[in-house]
Amino acid sequence: ALIGKDGYRHYMLKEIYEQPQVIGDTVNSYINPETSRITMPDLPFDLARASRLTIVACGTAFYAGLVAKYWFETLARLPVEIDIASEFRYREAPMPENGVALFISQSGETLDTLEALRYCKRQGQRILSVVNAPESTIARESDAVLYTMAGPEIGVASTKAFTTQLTTLACLAAQVAHARGAIDDERLMSVARSLREVPARAAEVLAHDERLKDLAAEVSEARDVLYLGRGAMYPLAMEGALKLKEISYIHAEGYAAGELKHGPIALIDDAVPVIVLVPSDNLFEKVVSNVQEVCARSGKVLLIADRKGIDRLSDRVRWSVELPACDPIVAPILYAIPVQLLAYHTAVLKGTDVDQPRNLAKSVTVE
Ligand code: G6P
Repeated sequence: ALIGKDGYRHYMLKEIYEQPQVIGDTVNSYINPETSRITMPDLPFDLARASRLTIVACGTAFYAGLVAKYWFETLARLPVEIDIASEFRYREAPMPENGVALFISQSGETLDTLEALRYCKRQGQRILSVVNAPESTIARESDAVLYTMAGPEIGVASTKAFTTQLTTLACLAAQVAHARGAIDDERLMSVARSLREVPARAAEVLAHDERLKDLAAEVSEARDVLYLGRGAMYPLAMEGALKLKEISYIHAEGYAAGELKHGPIALIDDAVPVIVLVPSDNLFEKVVSNVQEVCARSGKVLLIADRKGIDRLSDRVRWSVELPACDPIVAPILYAIPVQLLAYHTAVLKGTDVDQPRNLAKSVTVE
């Protein structure tokens, strides 16, 4: 490849470490550094007046879309429908009048996502995409494109593309929220400020690398791993599980913590690490009680939380990693990093081909 690893052992690790930089580049392209005003490019349609937003993507990009659903609904009060492209494209979903459809893709070439885009176009939707690769087919066929500034991503397991997708979508959701009157000027500014602080916070999170490497030794012994979260941390739990299975080949599942009692709690014993993502947000107490349920069944919990969660739970859980406290809106961006590092170090310990995992392709242009 033309792009080197800059002394990193794998592209994936290099790309994880590039995140403060590329998130910063993405923030700077959508937020004016002088005024802290969010300034998305003008769209050829009015997203704030759309009757509904339909989000379609595959893999990691789909999980970015699922986080964005929480933002668009909670912050902007805009109804969102979301599905994976391979299902969406064949189910002949009825589309609303005045609807906008959003496609998220690192490569801009994923065939299922592209075909879903074409379906939505035939159904009269306005087409918006969030794409990393500029000259791509999805970018070309969209009415408007928001670019992520991740730069080329070589590692098959997506890392910096994901966090820059989240950054772009957070800017968009905040601007739409403001345009819809769902948030006031002050909240808009505070979201922008929180987003501008993400690069510095992300660098702090990267400083936990050694600790996560130690924890990876535990995870690498497991046959199954559970990831739990609620709200916008639920997609992060699924993304964490996806990263782990993609590159370490350990079976992992991401679950909504509140759904635990409807099945996966039966799996819990001291051989199954349970990784729980617990930022201080409006669901904090709910997740705390889910963690207690797991501990009461001798589950080995690995807590990823800020000071509040650590203070509350550290005497009950087996391990913990403390992340900086942050605005809940940026938590999904920051919490992505420890799950990436955990998967990475676990895969290295397992001796797998981290950048080229078996059976997987970086860009899936066939069905
Ligand atoms: C492949 C990659 C994943 C990626 C997915 C969607 O499966 O291995 O990392 O998330 O495709 O790719 P896209 O380029 O559309 O984001």
